[in-house]
Formats: sequence, C-alpha cells, structure tokens
Amino acid sequence: MVSVLVASNRGPVSYTLGDDGALSARRGGGGLVSGLSAVDAQDSLWVCAALGDGDREAVRRGVAEPGVRMLDIDPEVYADAYNGIANSVLWFLHHHLYDIPREPVFDAAFRRRWESYRAYNRAFAEALAAAAAEGAAVLVQDYHLALVPGMLRELRPDLRIGHFTHTPWVSSEYLRMVPDDIAEELLWGMLGADELGFHTWAWASSFIGCCSQRDDSTGTARGVWPSGDPWRGVEWRRHGAGKGRTRVRVHALGVDGDDLRALAHRPQVDDRLARLREEVGDRKTIVRVDRTELSKNILRGLLAYRELLTTHPEWRDRVVHLASAYPSRQDLESYRSYTDSVRTLAEEINAEFGTADWQPVLVSVQDDFVRSLAAYRLADVALVNPVRDGMNLVAKEIPVVSDEGCALVLSTGAGAYRELREDALTVDPYDVSATAEALHTGLSMPRAERAERTKRLAAAATALPPQRWFLDQLDALRRPS
Ligand code: G6P
Repeated sequence: MVSVLVASNRGPVSYTLGDDGALSARRGGGGLVSGLSAVDAQDSLWVCAALGDGDREAVRRGVAEPGVRMLDIDPEVYADAYNGIANSVLWFLHHHLYDIPREPVFDAAFRRRWESYRAYNRAFAEALAAAAAEGAAVLVQDYHLALVPGMLRELRPDLRIGHFTHTPWVSSEYLRMVPDDIAEELLWGMLGADELGFHTWAWASSFIGCCSQRDDSTGTARGVWPSGDPWRGVEWRRHGAGKGRTRVRVHALGVDGDDLRALAHRPQVDDRLARLREEVGDRKTIVRVDRTELSKNILRGLLAYRELLTTHPEWRDRVVHLASAYPSRQDLESYRSYTDSVRTLAEEINAEFGTADWQPVLVSVQDDFVRSLAAYRLADVALVNPVRDGMNLVAKEIPVVSDEGCALVLSTGAGAYRELREDALTVDPYDVSATAEALHTGLSMPRAERAERTKRLAAAATALPPQRWFLDQLDALRRPS
C-alpha cells in the first residue's frame, strides 16, 4: 500500500522483445518522470498500460520495474480504448480537429468502443484502489483516463483524487456534437476528482463552461469562477448521492533549464551539431520539432515557408528549414495520410526552389532526440504553430537551449502562448501569409534584440520546472479543502 500514486496510459518504461526472446527496457523522460522522482520511491506507485507485445511479455514474466505496475489489458479492448476512443474521439474533440462533413460518426461501432474505453478506465481504477493506502493521493493523467476519477471515488471514497489534462479542453459548443449520455459520463467521470489541473486558464475555463448550468440524469452542476475569488471550479449535486465541489487549478508545466542545457551539451549533441552545420552551410535556420500530429499544423507551416520564399526571394539559398516530424499514432489512417502529405509538400518545395547546392527543407522523420537538441541549438527562428495545443514544450525548450538566441514564431492556439506571447512573434495558426511574414521578421531580427527576447523567453519557460509542477499538485491535493 502506498500513499502517492500516478496513473497514465504511457508509463515511464517500455519493453521490446528481441528475436532471441530477450526483453530490453527503455526508460522515457518527461515531466512526470522527473516529478515523481521528487517523492519517496518506496511509498509511490505508477500505474500504466502495457502498450505492446514487449510490455505484455514483461508483465507475463513478472519483470517489474520498482514502483511501476503495468496493466495487461486485453489487446482488443486496449486498441478500441486507445486508438478508437482516446486518440480518435477525445483527442479530436479537445483539439477541435474534426473534418465536420465526414466526422464524427456516433454509431453502433462507436458504442462498442466506448464500452472498451470504460473497461480500460475501470482496470486502472481497480488497480489504483487495490494499491492505495488509506487517504492516499492519486494523480490521474490525461484524456485516456477521464472516467477514472469517478470510478475510483466510488471504490475508495477516502482517497484524494487529482486529474491533470495535458491537452486543451473541448469548448462547450464543440462538445454538443457528442451524444448527451456520453458527454454526461465524461464530465461526471472528471468531477469525481477533488482537484482538476490544466495548463492554462483557457482550457480550465472551457472545462468549467462545459459543466456550467448542467442538469442531467446524473445531477446538477454549476461553474464558479468569479474574478478575484480564490475558489474556482464546479459545485455539483448528484441525484441521490449528495453534493460536492471539484476545484479547478492551473499548473503551467515548464522545463528544467539546467537539466536541458546539460543534455544539449553532451558530446554526441556537439557531434550532431557539427554535422548539421555542415549541411546548412552559411545559412540561417528555421527549426521545428513535433510528433507528426494533426494538431501541430505542420502543413500550414510548410505552406508559410513556401510563401516566404516566394514573397521574399532574398531568402532563397540563405535559409534552411529543419523540420523534425517524427512518426506518431501510425495505427490511425488519418495520421498515416497526414505524414504522407507532410513528406509530399516538403518534396514539392525542394523541387520548386532547390538548387544543386541548396535543399530548402530538410525533413527528418526519426524520433531522434540528439538531432532535435542539435537543431534547437542551431535555431535562428523556431516555428511552433499548432492549431490548438495543451502547452507545447518545444516552444519552451528551444529558447532555453538555442546557442545564439532565436526568434520564436508562436501560435495563439498553443497553451504556451499565455506565458510567452510578449517576447514571441505571435500568429493566427490558420493565417499562412501572416506566418510567412513572421518568419521573415524573425529571420531579419537584429542579433541583440533576439538575444534579449530569448533571455526573457527562457526565464518564462523555466518558471515552473517539472518537479515543482508535480509537488505543487500534490500539495494542493493533500491540503484540507
Ligand atoms: C500528448 C498527450 C500525452 C501522450 C503524448 C504522446 O502529449 O497529452 O498523454 O502521451 O501526446 O502520444 P502517445 O499517443 O504516443 O502516447
């Protein structure tokens, strides 16, 4: 029995099964890993899903990383929950990504997948309920596990339950597309928590807005966020089950500056940087690094670059666009075809403008952190133009690491916009021409101004490093309400 628990779909370690039957472990990084390292390892547990065959085999063989419990959920149930609901429905809702004439379709197949999403959330709730000591604090992560707080509350009313959303939250209007009973289940699942966390008030108020003035088959709810009132959240009353309050808070995750700088100055990054410098030559760079993700708006970024080379031909042969777009969620057809479109458009730009010794766009599709760090260091301009994004840590990482200071072109749709807008060149993510102009302004920015802005951007980016971010949530959760 432990007193701090974290639950997330993707855990801190993943296993691959070699041809010889041996299992090899790969540890991941990220905010939660470094956050959880701040608490006593003997008294904490991370519950996550077995994602693939390697993980499942590790569970079967009882290979356990200390402090980690992987759940071996039936592969079909898992695929329906992860691909079919979390990534195809909830992700699309929170990022407003639907191609409305065609999607969403809420049919019998959707209902079957939703049943799997429930079962997968239930498996987490049961594992947490079984491992938590009396009064323990549980921090549930993200849209994959939106029903866990409500389920866990029923199993273990003694626990302090928090949930953090790393994505945006869907607007109340967009949520109206979803059948009433499903929207109800989703919101009441979240309201099972004592504390709900978001990266910015934009997303937190969307959540409160979705719950406001609710009167449905489960109960009634009212959003509270008067300005000046320290208590923001949702007051609710469940039919036949009493009333309660769920507090909503903002914890804007930042980066650990010292850690990141140390990582970016390892010898292998220096080597990679030297090679990139050779490829780029005596030219400026526009750098972007993303998962190949529909919400990242990579295609409009490339269109803006093409427009820059057309409207400002003086940049031809004087700039290289380094675009890392590493594969993500390739089980989904929409992600595969998006990846193809990114490749095709980059090839078109290279064919249209390239010369014997200048390739305008260098696309890398490897998940290669060393190359990304080298590109960060080399960046003259960083391009971060998502249509809607929970936070976007790349926008925070590049200014911290860039060697000479970089101009940050930043979308108003990124969560990081709130904290970085004053020193970034901000753009409407749909406005390709404005993005092209911002790229031009960034490339033309005097060195001294770039350096000054970068210093302030880096200070804002490191204001809430992951350990602090995690401990703040834990403190808030444990504080008597
Ligand atoms: C976003 C989500 C995370 C997720 C990550 C990678 O940042 O908020 O929960 O882990 O994307 O996506 P994946 O589907 O590969 O885990």
